[in-house]
Parts: sequence; structure tokens; C-alpha cells
Amino acid sequence: MLHGAAITTVEGIGSSKTRIHPVQERIAKAHGSQCGFCTPGMVMSMYALLRNKPQPTMDDITQALAGNLCRCTGYRPIVDGCRTFCPEGNCCQANGGANCCLNGEENTNESEHEKPRLFDRETFLPLDPTQELIFPPELILMAEASNLQTLTFHGERMTWVSPTSLEELVQLKMKHPRAPLVMGNTNIGPDIKFKGVLHPLIISPIRVKELFDVSEGPDGVWVGAGSSLSELHSLLEKMVTQLPEEKTELFRAMIQQLGNLGSQQIRNVASLGGNIVSAYPNSDLNPVLAAGNCKVRVISSEGRREVPLNQEFFVGFGKTVLKPEDVALSVFIPFSRKGEFVRALRQAPRKEVSFATVTTGMRVYFSEGSRVVQEVSLYFGGMGPTTVSATRTCKAIMGRPWDEDTLNKAYDVLLEELALPPSAPGGKVEFRRALTLSLLFKFNLDVLQKLKEMNVIKDEIPEKLQPLPKDIQPSLQEFQDVPKDQDDQDPVGRPMMHRSAISHATGEAVYCDDIPKTDGELFLVLVTSSRAHAKITGLDTSEALKLPGVVDVITANDIPGKKARPMFGYEQELFAEDEVFCVGQTVCAVLADTKTHAKRGAAAVKITYEDLPDPIFTIEDAIEKSSYYEPQRVIAKGDVTEAFKNVNRVYEGQIRMGGQEHFYMETQSMLVVPVGEEKEFKVYISTQWPTLIQEAVAETLDIQSNRVTCHVKRLGGAFGGKVIVTSVLASITSVAAWKTNRAVRCVLERGEDMLITGGRHPVLGKYKVGFMNDGRIMAVDYHYYANGGCFVDESVLISEKILLHLDNAYNIPNLRGHSAACRTNIPSNTAFRGFGVPQGLLVVENMVNDVAMALGRPADQVREINMYKGPSVTHYKVEFSPDNLQRCWEQCKLRSDYGARRKAVDQFNQQNRWKKRGISIIPIKYGIAFAESFLNQAGALVHIYKDGSVLVTHGGTELGQGVHTKMQQVASRELHVPTSKIFISETSTATVPNTCPSAASFGTDANGMAVKDACEILYRRLEPIRLKDPKGSWESWVREAHLQKISLSATGFFRGKDLYFDWDKMEGKPYSYYTFGVCCSEVELDCLTGDYRTLKTDMVMDIGRSINPSVDIGQIEGAFTQGLGLYTLEELQYSPTGMLYSRGPSQYKIPAVCDMPLQFSVYLLPDSYNPHAIYSSKGIGEPTLFLGSSVFFAIKDAVAAARSDSGLSGPFYLDTPATPEKACLACASPFTKKVEMRMFHSV
Ligand SMILES: Cc1cc2nc3c(=O)[nH]c(=O)nc-3n(C[C@H](O)[C@H](O)[C@H](O)COP(=O)(O)OP(=O)(O)OC[C@H]3O[C@@H](n4cnc5c(N)ncnc54)[C@H](O)[C@@H]3O)c2cc1C
Ligand code: FES
Repeated sequence: MLHGAAITTVEGIGSSKTRIHPVQERIAKAHGSQCGFCTPGMVMSMYALLRNKPQPTMDDITQALAGNLCRCTGYRPIVDGCRTFCPEGNCCQANGGANCCLNGEENTNESEHEKPRLFDRETFLPLDPTQELIFPPELILMAEASNLQTLTFHGERMTWVSPTSLEELVQLKMKHPRAPLVMGNTNIGPDIKFKGVLHPLIISPIRVKELFDVSEGPDGVWVGAGSSLSELHSLLEKMVTQLPEEKTELFRAMIQQLGNLGSQQIRNVASLGGNIVSAYPNSDLNPVLAAGNCKVRVISSEGRREVPLNQEFFVGFGKTVLKPEDVALSVFIPFSRKGEFVRALRQAPRKEVSFATVTTGMRVYFSEGSRVVQEVSLYFGGMGPTTVSATRTCKAIMGRPWDEDTLNKAYDVLLEELALPPSAPGGKVEFRRALTLSLLFKFNLDVLQKLKEMNVIKDEIPEKLQPLPKDIQPSLQEFQDVPKDQDDQDPVGRPMMHRSAISHATGEAVYCDDIPKTDGELFLVLVTSSRAHAKITGLDTSEALKLPGVVDVITANDIPGKKARPMFGYEQELFAEDEVFCVGQTVCAVLADTKTHAKRGAAAVKITYEDLPDPIFTIEDAIEKSSYYEPQRVIAKGDVTEAFKNVNRVYEGQIRMGGQEHFYMETQSMLVVPVGEEKEFKVYISTQWPTLIQEAVAETLDIQSNRVTCHVKRLGGAFGGKVIVTSVLASITSVAAWKTNRAVRCVLERGEDMLITGGRHPVLGKYKVGFMNDGRIMAVDYHYYANGGCFVDESVLISEKILLHLDNAYNIPNLRGHSAACRTNIPSNTAFRGFGVPQGLLVVENMVNDVAMALGRPADQVREINMYKGPSVTHYKVEFSPDNLQRCWEQCKLRSDYGARRKAVDQFNQQNRWKKRGISIIPIKYGIAFAESFLNQAGALVHIYKDGSVLVTHGGTELGQGVHTKMQQVASRELHVPTSKIFISETSTATVPNTCPSAASFGTDANGMAVKDACEILYRRLEPIRLKDPKGSWESWVREAHLQKISLSATGFFRGKDLYFDWDKMEGKPYSYYTFGVCCSEVELDCLTGDYRTLKTDMVMDIGRSINPSVDIGQIEGAFTQGLGLYTLEELQYSPTGMLYSRGPSQYKIPAVCDMPLQFSVYLLPDSYNPHAIYSSKGIGEPTLFLGSSVFFAIKDAVAAARSDSGLSGPFYLDTPATPEKACLACASPFTKKVEMRMFHSV
């Protein structure tokens, strides 16, 4: 219900039926949409920005998009589309030109103009602000009306009251002291939604004017507590320009902090009072407000009073000294004085939209001309349950000169004072303690700088710390143009927008959960285990069944057919009956008329357990207890044992990789509809493998497959996560539909999805490597352990794929690899883009890196020395040519100017102590296709209708990877008709049966050949008519064919290669061909905090002749970004009892716009041909994910430079994800060493 507000949705700003909005058009045409699930959000963020600022800067754009996540694109195309609105982005360089019109230079380079571009900005609709929707006049009238009335709305369990005056608010608070005041709802809302907190009464004081008053006094400014953080930000920015600099120290520190707090969307609604009263332990405002001597004016029925915001204000987790009936009216923010310096610093797991790990407000005051401290206050967030004051540290500084001596003592006291026990909530104890020291040190550097500028001191300042660079630069996307003689109408090889991009951008695209509700439809919510390994001793559903709306509880007893899904030699129960094996395993499911009722019902189901001893969570536990899935695999080449005897050096190392959550934007979603006769079911589902779902539902319901039709329109991302788990969920949902004979929908919430479904396997890789002094690697012995979780799923296949990629790009004469999938008590891990290769190769590249470090040689040289050259043979005896790998390597070095940049990095590192740069260049050789022969097949069905329009169906599902767009291009070429005549509606088991999964980067290869086959058949059938009437049109030929009773419908089939692998003989032909690529990345690392920025990434990829360069470059960038997340950012955290903590975007950070390389260029290798795939193309969905590791190795390079300043050299351990925590601790700065020593002594 809305009152006093109007909402403009993405559908409201433009539509394909009328006129699309320029924002929708540009994001779509710039290829900023893949699966499309995030696109409406991107469009609306940009639209909102343009409504407020029609000519935005690039900074405005990145700020506006900071709070929007995309899992597909890697953001570059979205930013490029948005950049076209920004005057500075409309210059020639924005698309990669060398000279720049902004510099007054003309882009005269002819060849630059001739290069094909991904999109043509000339075709864009202009932005015309006069065409925009007007602000609703009734809202203006409403706001101006003087006769405001109290509003009350009653819901099923809650009442919402909006008073009109301060008196009424105070009275309400007196009567209902426990009722929260909801301002921005950014704290209360998530509690209600995610933690199930019930507030029977909610007070909304947004119409109480006094809460928004601002008044300036002689000593500072009073700001209404209801002001949004954006309003506060604007106010402070305005005042900073109006007041003398010395008066605005605190204001500037707050501006700095506000710029990093949440996202624009959060800051637009979150209130100042709400932030203070919520008293988050890691609130960014409270430390700086407290350090700055701010105070809060409070009102209650007892009157008004002022309460200082200091140590006493924060009394516990989420608690302040304010009484429940108190209303925070306004906040006083004082002016600073001459000689007073205030800073607010923070460090967070991700640069933007992330709560801080540690956040501070620091203030020091010197009397004029002196370095002796008159006042000091240091407040920290993230160091305990409340914002804390480092009072003892302040005492150690007070009255003393601000110099090295004083500060050195202060560090020691601070370390003692803000000690955290090793088991402190939030973990990261060592890092958090180190951060307190390094943030104080940063403050120190700033203060010294200021004192020097004011001529108070003459000291040599150690280093002026500049913030990390953050300006996004234009980048290049280069690809080969189509041959000059190619027909203009033939779209193959040309960039073509995703065929649904406009539907995505206008919000018209239909995802599973958009399908309108059918009559009598029920919603299903799963009830899952809260224990990692236990016997189920009781299941009581009685309370749940009594709740309003609850219709039934589905258990294993309701399954008419198979109760378990067969999984690669094991079985997975649909519902746990006697024993649970992980937290999050499904025990039963509640059905209700609405999702809300089903959720309440699920919460009321009682399960009792008897815990079983010693659950296994980690790989180490599994190794100790020999808990593995069989078979384990071994592969070998040469004589490893013998080779070790003849090498100059031997090194043993290891690396641990964390897992990864798929974080597809659309969670697992499905709707099962019983047709009502002859046991027929229609399943609308978001899956990569419709045939598996059909089979699973049929077996579960004990009916034939011909009664189950599976429909897949599109998926909002999948990345491997919508195969096995989805088949289990679909089976469960179908049982509910079977039992009730009603349509049943199941759409997981993000938290449930993350809890229940596993992700990428964490891997521990150990190696022993033998090498020569000249860098030649002669022998490696690898041991891989993958954490498979509680069911086998595809874990054994993944561990096999790891071994098949053991060589990567290197010709190492003696190799041996063992791999084992560990059976543990966490949710079952499953396929994830790359299918084990990103894990396996990281170990390989880390080994090569270690060899380089052990030898003290540049890593790129060691890589080069060992790389495959000339006719080569893999470790499983397949011959191949690595020529294109070599070409990618050379081109990447050239394009990235690697040699010069390596030198520049080294020079930078010599000149900077606390910031370091690192650079790396990493190759990949990736095998394409399924090693299981039967999976390499595909089907298609093509109809031509009488009006000449064509309907194509094939076995691939549209996950965002653009397979439908490419199939449209294939059909267009083969039938010689424009793509506008070709439509793809959905993937369905009724049109193309027995399909294979859309996976293994093989979708286009397989389905493309099947579509081609069907189209060729049809084109041949039309041939006599075409020959008879060569001047006729396509439509006339089709009409004639119909009159001549020629079938205008054909199926096509692709029978792929007979790929196989024989593990006993350790040989076979598992892949159809290889995709090659090389990537160079450079980072800048803040060694004091572990924060980093990727400055530049250049990637050269050999993907044969691209069918659609815009789609392929999108896949390359998107996979790279997912890899960057895997290796440097995304961290799954579990409780000691095996419960996943990180169950949403606030705890689990995927890359955001701020993580894009500042310059991100992709070059498709020219003159590459691939005889093994359609139109000489190559599969590209997965390979570049691994190249995200170039950022990891660049960080490692920077860390090595920092370690060298601390006197450390040689190989060192750095596990992934290399989060700021890991990178900072690995730098071994004097601060981290201090903490280490203290922690060591206190153990
Ligand atoms: C995605 C996200 C990211 C975030 N990132 C950050 C971050 O990086 N740093 C950070 O510091 N914070 C962050 N926050 C927290 C956010 O700043 C606070 O939730 C917000 O400021 C609270 O204000 P609100 O108006 O939304 O509070 P509400 O949710 O409306 O209310 C919160 C509480 O404050 C009380 N309250 C509100 N106003 C008053 C008043 N005038 N008098 C008395 N009590 C009052 C209410 O009773 C309620 O208990 C983030 C939040 C989200 C959702
Ligand atoms: S296109 Fe952004 S999440 Fe898929």
C-alpha cells in the first residue's frame, strides 16, 4: 500500500509496444544485458540519475550503479552503455581511439575508424528530458496540504501508524515504547524480512517536520535526525564550500565516510537518527560523530534533553543509553577549530556497499604552532559489540608531542586496549587488530602532513598516502570483421544484440516467477535440517497445519515413485527420512495459499534430532578420516619418481581455494501444473537441463516421461547450479502438485538458496615440484582434494576434469596427479562454470609461481620456458598444436606492453613503502566438450509458417549466454532470411526430446549444428521453387511450397564426436579441441589495509571465428569477473556446527562495479580457424573464468614486493580468495607482525 508516494517502474518509462526509453535502448544495444535479471535495476538506477542530472559524470554513473549487482556481464558493457549519456564519455576515446578530442586532438587514425565496433552510438535515441514523465501533481498538492491526518493501516499481524506532529509522535512513543520508528526501514525491514521479527505496531514519523529541520549556530549545525544520509551528505558538501577549511574538518571526514556507506539507494532512505540509534557495532557514522564531539537532542513525554555521543552512549550490541520512549530529534555536528584534525577511515571486504570490517573516527587538537596534543579522541567500530573509544590510547597520547615516540607507544597501548579474544564474533581477529594499528598509522601520516603544511614541524614525512585510483578508463574490444564478400544480410560473425535485450531492459522479459498465478495455486517452502549430521527422532507438523493458509505438509511418505535420485553410483534422498547429512538438507515441505503463509508454516514445523558424532566439514577432516567418494583418480606421464633424482631443486607447496556460491540473480524457481487428466504435468522451470527435470519428475511420480513437459523460457543465470539441485527441487515440487492436484510454485529466497544449494568445490592442492636452475620444470607430483559435501553430485567428474587439465599450457615431462572428492557434512557441492578447471589450474599456476620465486626469476619467464611449443602431446597422449596459445601469449605481451609495465611496477615499488603494485600474465588451454560421449549430441526443430516467419527450437536453454541469439544467426545464414523473421520462443521437451545440458561451453557447438542441419534440410526442400522463380521473395517461395504440399517443418540432429577417457590406461580423447587465451592484469595494493584495485586487464583469446563477437566478448568479460570474485573476493563462511553464515549479499560479496578493472580490454585472436565447430568458432562460456586468477597473481606479486621490504623473500602461502584480510596479513608489515607476536604470546 502506498500513501504520498508514486513509484515509477521500468515498465513505466518505456515499452517495446510504444517507445523504449534511451536508457533501456543504450544498455541493451551496448550489450549490457545477458540473462537480463539485473537489467531493470540497472536501467532504473541510471534513469534516476538522469532525472536528477541529465549530464552526469563518469563518477556519478559509477556511484549510481554501485548498489546494483550483475552476475553475468562484468559490468563493462553496462558502464559503456551508460557512459554514452555523459559528456566526457562521448568523446572519440570512449570507444578506444588513441588521440582524444578532449585534449583538442583529432582522431585522425584511419584504421581506428575502420575497426569494427561492438555498437554504433549513432543509432541511439537522444535523451530528451521534456519527454519524461512529470512529477505527479497530486503528490505536490498532498505535500502542501495543511490538514494532515494521522494515517493508520492494519495488516494481518501488523499495524502501521503515521502521525502528523511531534506531539502526536511523542504520545505514541509513550504509549508504545517498543514500537520502532521506521524511517528508511533499512534496519527494521531486513529484520522483518530475513529474521522473521514481528513488530505488531510500527510508527512512521516521516511526516513530522521537526525531524528534518536544519539550523546553523555559532559552533556548528543541528541536523534533523530524520534527514536521509544523502541529504546529510549534500548539506555537508554545501557547507564545506561556504565555510573556512579549518571549520570543516569534521564535515569533510563525514563526507568521506558517507561516500562509502552502503549505496546511493541506501543513503537515499537511511536516516541519520536511524544509523545512530541502530547502534551497529560497525556503524560508519557513530565513530566519527563520537570522535567529533557530536550530541543528540532527544525528546520524550518528559521533555527535551541533549545527550553526548560518546563512549557512554553505546551500551551494548544495538543498544544506546536512549530509553525506548525517546525520539532522537536532531544531531549537533560542531565546527572544527584551527589546529584540529579529524579523519574517518574504514576497511571493508569490498570497496563499496559493504559494512566495514573496522571503521574509525579520529580527532586530534593542537594549540597554535605546537605539536603537543591538547585533545585526542579515537573511536573504532568493528572491534566489539559497540562503537568503542580507545580511551587508554588517547591518554597515552594526550599532552605529548605528536611524534614517532608517542605514536609507537600508542600502537602498543592500542593493541592491548582493543584486544579481541580469538573466538570473537565476526572472526578475522588478527586482521581487525592489525587494522586498528594501520588505520592509526594512516591518521598519523595525515596529521604529520598537516603539521608540516602549517610549518609546525620540519620532519621528513615518510610517505603521503594517496587513495587507490578509481577512475574507469575507456577500454578496447577488438575482433575480426567479417570477410568483405559476406552478404550484408548474413549476421554470422557480426556483433548482434542479445535477442531479448530490449525485453530485459523494459521489464517485459518473463522469468519463471513472472508467470501469472493460476487458480488455486499453492506455494511450497522447504523445511530443512538445522543439524549437520544427526538422526531424525521426530517430525511434528501439527502446529504448522493449524496456521492460516497452510494446506499440507509433504514428506517422503507422499512420494508415489522413486524416493531418491540416482547420482553417479550413489543415491540422494529427496526428503531426509531417518538421518540428515548437512545443515540445509530438505526434511519436508509446507504448502500454503501464499508464500508468507508457507514460510510461517515451515517455521512452525518441529524436528527433533539426535546428533551423530564427529561431523566432517573440512578437507583436512575428510583426509584424516579417509572420507572420500569413489572412485579416486590418478593420472601420470613419464617417470616422476626417477625425474626427482635428477633435478637441481625440489620444492613442496600447497594452496587452498575457497568455494564459490553461484549467486545466479534468479534463484531456483519452478511451477508444476497438473493438467488434470491422464497424469499429465507441465513444468515451468529455470533449469539448464530440461530433459533431466522431465526424467526426475516422471520417476518421482512413477509416470512415463511422455506425461511430463518441461518448459524453459529463459533463466536469470545458472552457471552450473541449475542442473542437479534443480532436479531434486522439481521432484519435490511435483510430489506436492501430484498430492494436491493443484499448481505448485517453489521459488527459493536468496538465503534459502545459498543455504540449501552447494556451489563450487573448495579445493586443497599440494605439490612437489622438481626443477632446474634455468627454470625448466622437470617433474611435478600433485594431490588434489575437493570438498564434495554430503552427496556425490558431480564431484567425481569434477575431480577427473581437474586431472585432465593438469598440464595447462606447460609441457612438463614428468607429471603425476591424484585427486579425491571428499565426503563431508556440508551441502553437496556441484557443477560451477569451469567444472573444476579453475581450481585445478590455480594449483598449477601457483606451483609455477613458486618455482619462479624460489629461483628469484620473473614468473613470466618461467612460464615461457615451460610452455608447449611446436607439435605437442598432452599428458593423456592427445596430439595438438599450441601455435595459437603461443600467439595469444605474444600478442598479450605486446598489447599489454608487459615488459615496460613490469619495469614501471618495479620502479613504483621502490618508491612506495605502503602501496605496492603487482603484475601477472597467465595462460590457459581449455578442453571443450563433454568427455562423456553420449552428451555430445543435440536436436533442433524448425518450422516455417505460411507467412514466411520461422520458429526455431533447439535443445539449448537461454541462460544469458546468448545461445538463442546465436541460433537465430545460424538459422538466418542457412535460410537466407533476416533474423527479424526468426523467433525462438522457449526450450521444451515436447519439441526437442532427449536434450543434453547447456553446459561445458558446448551449447553453440552442439545446438548450432543441429539448427544448421534442420535449416539446410528446409532450404533444400525449397530449392526447386527457388530455381523456378529466382526473383521471387522468401514469402512467395514459402507460400508456393505450402501449396505444393512440401513440408515446412524439419528436425535437425548433431551427432558429436565419440569422446571418451579410459582411466585405467590413463589415455583417451576427452575433448573436441582447445580454447586458448592469455591474460595480463596489474593491481595496486594498499599494504596497510589489503585493499586493492585492478588497474588494467588485457586479454587475448583464441576463440576461432566468433559467431557473435558481442556475445562472446560478453562471456569472456563475465567469466573473468566471476573468476576475479572467486580468487579475490567471495568468501563462504560457516559456523563451527556447519551452518553457512554467508547467506546473502550483505555477507557474501560478489564483484560490483567497483571491482571492474579500471581498464579492461579484450582482443580476439585474428586468423584463427577451428575445423571442429560450427562456422570455425570455439566454445567460450567457461575458459576465461580461470583468467580472473591473473588478478590474484598480480596481488601476490604486490605482496611479494611488500614482503621484500620486510626482509622476506621466496615462496609464501596465499590462499584464495585473497581478500583484503589475507593480502594484508601476507604483506607482513610491522603492524601485522606486532599483532602476530602479541597473539602468539597470549596463546
Ligand atoms: C545494504 C545496506 C548497507 C549498509 N551499509 C552500511 C555501511 O556501510 N555503514 C553503515 O554505517 N551503515 C550501513 N547500513 C546501515 C544503515 O545505514 C542503517 O540501517 C540506517 O542508517 C538506519 O536508518 P533507517 O532510517 O533506515 O532506520 P530504520 O530501519 O527506519 O530504523 C532503525 C532503528 O532506529 C530507530 N530510529 C530511527 N529513527 C529514530 C529516531 N529519530 N529516534 C529514535 N529512534 C529512531 C528505529 O526505532 C529502529 O529501531 C547499511 C544498510 C543496508 C541495508
Ligand atoms: S545480466 Fe546481469 S545478472 Fe544476468
